[in-house]
Amino acid sequence: SKTRPEIPMEIILANPRGFCAGVNMAITCLEEAVRLFGSGIYVYHEIVHNQYVVNRFTKEGVSFVNDLKEVPEGSILLFSAHGVSPEIRSLAKERRLKSIDATCPLVTKVHLEALKYARENYNIILVGHEGHDEVIGTMGEAPESITLVETAEDVEKLPFTTEERLAYLTQTTLSVQEATEVITALKNRYPQIVSPPKEDICYATTNRQDAVHQLVTQADILLVLGSQNSSNSQRLKEIGSTHGIPAYLIDGEADLKDEWFKDSSRVLITAGASAPEVVVQDCVEHLRKKFNAQIKEVTLQEEKVQFPLPKSLRVLQNTI
Ligand code: F3S
Repeated sequence: SKTRPEIPMEIILANPRGFCAGVNMAITCLEEAVRLFGSGIYVYHEIVHNQYVVNRFTKEGVSFVNDLKEVPEGSILLFSAHGVSPEIRSLAKERRLKSIDATCPLVTKVHLEALKYARENYNIILVGHEGHDEVIGTMGEAPESITLVETAEDVEKLPFTTEERLAYLTQTTLSVQEATEVITALKNRYPQIVSPPKEDICYATTNRQDAVHQLVTQADILLVLGSQNSSNSQRLKEIGSTHGIPAYLIDGEADLKDEWFKDSSRVLITAGASAPEVVVQDCVEHLRKKFNAQIKEVTLQEEKVQFPLPKSLRVLQNTI
């Protein structure tokens, strides 16, 4: 029968989940900017890829734009956690915008690697998803030198020889497993290829994926809190799908459908790096009330990473 077994629902809360150090810093930076300069602030792209966070700041009077032409000259402009290309930085200067850079330092790391390899005349292969804000920003550092690949099949189509200077970089929020496949294909085809000493997929991406990998076999269904345009959240959802259990990526409690839980007594819950804990707790509360769920949190890793607020915030603060 299709009715839920009469075993009480168990919720397994994966930890680490939710906010990473970069998202924390970017959001605190925008909060500080609103506090210091008032609400007429602009942000290039979504501050982080999360609807709840973006709605909250929109209500406070912050404007999110995808085109700097929408920003009146002389305004305060934040660059989002995903980073921007040098072109956007100089465009902002031309428009005399007062910019605050909330780029995650681990994204900046990849930008600097791109610049370094380009300067040393390497052809750079960037493993990433076309059209993602971070990929657009990174490619903008050295557009002539960077080729984007998404899959191992793309590697087969690359025009380079085994004689050329080649380096690879990756987006920070890829699936660790998929990235490993693409990198293996790159190394097989181009044994000479080099890469930075420390990988580009960030600690938060890795830890959230690891936790779901370790807990997914104990669950009948996976819920990932996060927005559809959040790359690392999508990758978390895919882990559930790969293990053959239904997996849903949702913004919050309002998206929950009771029918999902008909056959599930064990619900694994995680959250992408841009999803606030409040949306997780709202879902837990909903399931607790509706299905009398018992809650168990499993911590697989302690995270102690923290990033300071950007210098550009303090610099601007001193000018007012
Ligand atoms: Fe930075 Fe990784 Fe978060 S690159 S913004 S710490 S997901």
